[in-house]
Amino acid sequence: MAIERTLSIIKPDAIKRNLTGAIITLIENSDLHIVAQKRIRLTKEQAKTFYAFHKDRPFFDELVDFMLSSPVVVQVLEGESAISVYRNLMGDTDPTRAADGTIRKVFAKSIEENSVHGSDSAIAARVEIAQFFSDNEIVG
Ligand code: CMP
Repeated sequence: MAIERTLSIIKPDAIKRNLTGAIITLIENSDLHIVAQKRIRLTKEQAKTFYAFHKDRPFFDELVDFMLSSPVVVQVLEGESAISVYRNLMGDTDPTRAADGTIRKVFAKSIEENSVHGSDSAIAARVEIAQFFSDNEIVG
């Protein structure tokens, strides 16, 4: 087990419903520490780059538009096995399949409007964190 960092995004559906604090409470009640955080409006270019892995999926354009529909909160979370701990806390991408008590089960509206994003691997975490934060903005 090792201390890891992961990128979290609180997405537009949650921001629009004023759920930032409620989601932060669930994060802080797990063993994750928020070591960087900012509220930003993604540019179209940023959203397309961030989700480039999904560029051939039928939902790609809609996903990009959704991510531009309001500001988002981007965060770096740190802790023991932070990547898998946060993925477990988020729950399944599809909220109808997410376990009770997970962020997506409690708050998500649909498979697209699923309230939060978390990196899915150590490599993804490194790339995604670097997209939004410089080293001196991350204070552990
Ligand atoms: P996220 O964990 O941010 O990673 C990719 C995102 O694509 C996912 O959350 C959802 O918001 C979205 N997504 C995944 N599958 C679908 C789908 N079948 N239809 C619409 N959006 C999806």
